[in-house]
Amino acid sequence: MAKRGPTYICQACGAVYHRWQGKCDACGTWSSLSEEAQAAPVPGGRGSSGGKARGRVFALETLKGETQDAPRIVAGIGELDRVTGGGFVPGSVLLIGGDPGIGKSTLLMQACAALALRGQRVVYVSGEESTGQVRLRAERMGLAEAPVDLAAETNVEDIIATLGQGQRPALVVIDSIQTMWSGEVESAPGTVTQVRGSAQALIRYAKTSGACLILVGHVTKDGQIAGPRVVEHMVDAVLSFEGEGAHSFRILRGQKNRFGATDEIGVFEMTGKGLSEVSNPSALFLAGRDQPAPGAAVFAGVEGTRPVLVEIQALVAPTSLGTPRRAVVGWENSRLAMVLAVLETHGGLRLGQHDVYLNVAGGLRVNEPAADIAVAAALVSSLTGAILPNESVYFGEVALSGAIRPVSVAAARLREAAKLGFGAAFLPSGGADFGDGSGLNLRRFGHVTELVADIAA
Ligand code: TYD
Ligand code: MG
Repeated sequence: MAKRGPTYICQACGAVYHRWQGKCDACGTWSSLSEEAQAAPVPGGRGSSGGKARGRVFALETLKGETQDAPRIVAGIGELDRVTGGGFVPGSVLLIGGDPGIGKSTLLMQACAALALRGQRVVYVSGEESTGQVRLRAERMGLAEAPVDLAAETNVEDIIATLGQGQRPALVVIDSIQTMWSGEVESAPGTVTQVRGSAQALIRYAKTSGACLILVGHVTKDGQIAGPRVVEHMVDAVLSFEGEGAHSFRILRGQKNRFGATDEIGVFEMTGKGLSEVSNPSALFLAGRDQPAPGAAVFAGVEGTRPVLVEIQALVAPTSLGTPRRAVVGWENSRLAMVLAVLETHGGLRLGQHDVYLNVAGGLRVNEPAADIAVAAALVSSLTGAILPNESVYFGEVALSGAIRPVSVAAARLREAAKLGFGAAFLPSGGADFGDGSGLNLRRFGHVTELVADIAA
C-alpha cells in the first residue's frame, strides 16, 4: 500500500498530488487543490487479501433471455424519454448536470410524479431542500397529490438503509450528489473524495437492487459538472440541462449514454407550472422573427434525429479598434474564424477592418458544420446590406478551399422547412439524390464565390 501522508486533490478533475501547487497540471485549473485525507479504501472493498474465485463467468449467448426481463421505465414525458433513449434502464445510473436554477429539480420532480402516478415506487432524496420545500414546488406544479416518497437526507448509508425498507423503488433521485457524504470516507462533504465515495456507494446500490438511479450534479462556471469529473466515468449516462437565463426554454442534451444515442435533445419551456414539452422546437426558435433585415439567415439544422430550424444572426460593423472584435454566441469561435477566412480568401470580402458578431437566436447551441453556409450568408448579407429572401433556409458545409460540401439528412431538413412554410432552400450542389425536396425551390451551390455573388446581386 502507498505511503500515507497529506494528499492534495484537484477539486475540478480529481487529480491527486503529494505536494500543494497553485495550478493543476492535469486540467489547468488554478487554486483548485485542497488537502484531503488519503483516499480511503473503497467502502466495503476486500483490501488486498488476495482474490478468491468469486466472480462467475457466463457465456455471452446464454444471457440472451436476460436482457428482456427488464423493460425500460418510461417516464411518459416524451422529450425526456427521447434523450434517455426510450426510458430509464433498471439498474442504470444517470447524471444530470446544469446551472443552478435551470430547472433540474423541477424536471426530476415531474418525472417522479409521472412514474408514481402510474403505480411505480419512486423516491426523491433532497440534500438541498427540506421535504416541505420540495412539496411546495410540487404543489406549484399541481403534482402535490402524486404518491412520491420524499426524504431530506445527506448521509448515503442512511439513504441506502432506508431504500432497503419496503418495496424496491423503480426510480431513486439524489438531488444533488455534491451534498451527499459517506461515513466511510474521511473528507468533508463536497470534496472530490467524498463525492466519489458517495457516488460509488449509491451506484453499487443501484446495480444490486435494480433500481434506476438519477444523480443531480452542479456545474462549474465553465460548464463542467463540478468536482466529480470522475463521477461522469462511473455512470451509464450523462445528460446536461441547458438554457439561457433570458429565455424560458430549456434543452436536455445527452453527453454520454450507454443505452441510447447521445445527439438527441429534448426541448422544454419553463412555465409558471413547471416544465412543458416543446414538440415542435423549430416553431419556437423561429417565433418572433422580425421584419426581414440584413444579417439574418435561417439554418435548417438537425439535432439527433429531429430537424430544427433556427435563425442565425450576424452583424458586421466597421471597427474602431486596432484588432477587430469577433464575438459568438451559440456557435464555435474557431468555426467562425474559418468561415471568415474562407470568405476573405475565396469570396473576395474585406473583413479585416470590421467587428463581427454572430448569434444563434433563441439560445440554441449549434454544433453542426452544416451551419457554415447559413453563417456565411448572414455575414455577407450584413456586410453588403443585402436582405436575404425571407422564405429561404440554408444548409451546407464550407471547406477551406471554398467548396460547399453536402451534408447528411438533407431530405429531413427540406421537409421541415416545407412544413413551416418556407419556399426555397440554399444547399450544396453535390450529395445524394433526395427527390424534389418537398416542393421547395432548390438553389444549389458548389462554391462560396457563387453564394457571395448570388447574395450581392
Ligand atoms: P429548480 O428546479 O429549483 O432548479 P435547479 O434544481 O436546477 O437549481 O428551478 C428553479 C427555477 O425555476 C426558479 O428560478 C423558479 C423556476 N420555476 C418556474 O418558473 N416555474 C415552476 O413551476 C417552477 C417549479 C420553477
Ligand atoms: Mg435543485
